[in-house]
Amino acid sequence: MKDVRFPAGDSVPALGLGTWHMGQDPSHFNAEVAALRHGMELGMTLIDTAEMYADGGAEQVVGAAIKGRREGLFIVSKVLPHHASAAGTIAACEQSLARLGSDYIDLYLLHWPGQHALQESIRGFETLQQAGKIRHYGISNFDAAGLHDVIAAGGGNCQTNQLLYNPSRRGIEFDTLVEMAALNMPLMAYSPLQQGGLIGHPVLTEIGRRHDSDAAAVALAWAIRRDDVIAIPKAGDLGHVRANRAAAEIVLSAADLAAIDDAFPPPTRRQHLEVL
Ligand SMILES: NC(=O)c1ccc[n+]([C@@H]2O[C@H](COP(=O)([O-])OP(=O)(O)OC[C@H]3O[C@@H](n4cnc5c(N)ncnc54)[C@H](OP(=O)(O)O)[C@@H]3O)[C@@H](O)[C@H]2O)c1
Repeated sequence: MKDVRFPAGDSVPALGLGTWHMGQDPSHFNAEVAALRHGMELGMTLIDTAEMYADGGAEQVVGAAIKGRREGLFIVSKVLPHHASAAGTIAACEQSLARLGSDYIDLYLLHWPGQHALQESIRGFETLQQAGKIRHYGISNFDAAGLHDVIAAGGGNCQTNQLLYNPSRRGIEFDTLVEMAALNMPLMAYSPLQQGGLIGHPVLTEIGRRHDSDAAAVALAWAIRRDDVIAIPKAGDLGHVRANRAAAEIVLSAADLAAIDDAFPPPTRRQHLEVL
């Protein structure tokens, strides 16, 4: 699988594993752990989670999945904006670490812009970094102007901006992705399958047929066609995990990409940041 590099030099696989909605139903716990383990075994060694998901339940699923195999993994979690004062960020991280059963988080993100001053959140991140509790920090759901605010607030070591990105949600190509590229900052593309909404799309399905595959795999191959995108599909189903891993082998042709541009035109002007 191809790698994507963060500004500080860490390389991660272009396809990782999402966890939103995991940890909600105890009867699904073992299957969710198995899905994450299967993904890791197939090389999807980046796992994205957040304190928000199932009120910490998703982090507990991740904790069970990574138990005894922490080395070589890249764990991403997120602090809720209303926790993101300097002290609150540290306290939230401690709780995430306990649920994850890990001494450190590789990349800790501010989940979306909130009421606390960015300087405060960054101070919390830097304190956690100095203590070895997080290796890097970043942001999520920040538009181009917000990204500038983060840099101006002293966040020059920000490693990524995690944003909604898939063929049907490509407004960020106009400005935010351009700004991020100028900072050598890769995108973490969330909801790359539009939460299942792209499954069965006729144009993607037709392209998938040319590659002995399907619409979901084409959507993922499309997201990671760029060298600066990590896509983090969530799959609780083992077959879906395998299909998503296989998407990394699909190379879309110029004709495939043109057909996707026809069905999902790229932005021609600035758009409000879309979030889920
Ligand atoms: N930073 C943020 O604000 C933010 C917001 C949203 C999401 N995220 C992150 O991004 C991750 C991914 O986004 P998401 O969970 O919203 O949606 P998604 O990954 O676009 O879609 C997940 C859905 O697609 C299904 N699926 C997965 N692979 C499939 C395949 N090969 N064929 C058919 N269906 C498939 C899954 O079903 P099964 O589970 O049954 O396999 C699930 O219902 C999240 O889990 C989370 O980690 C971050």
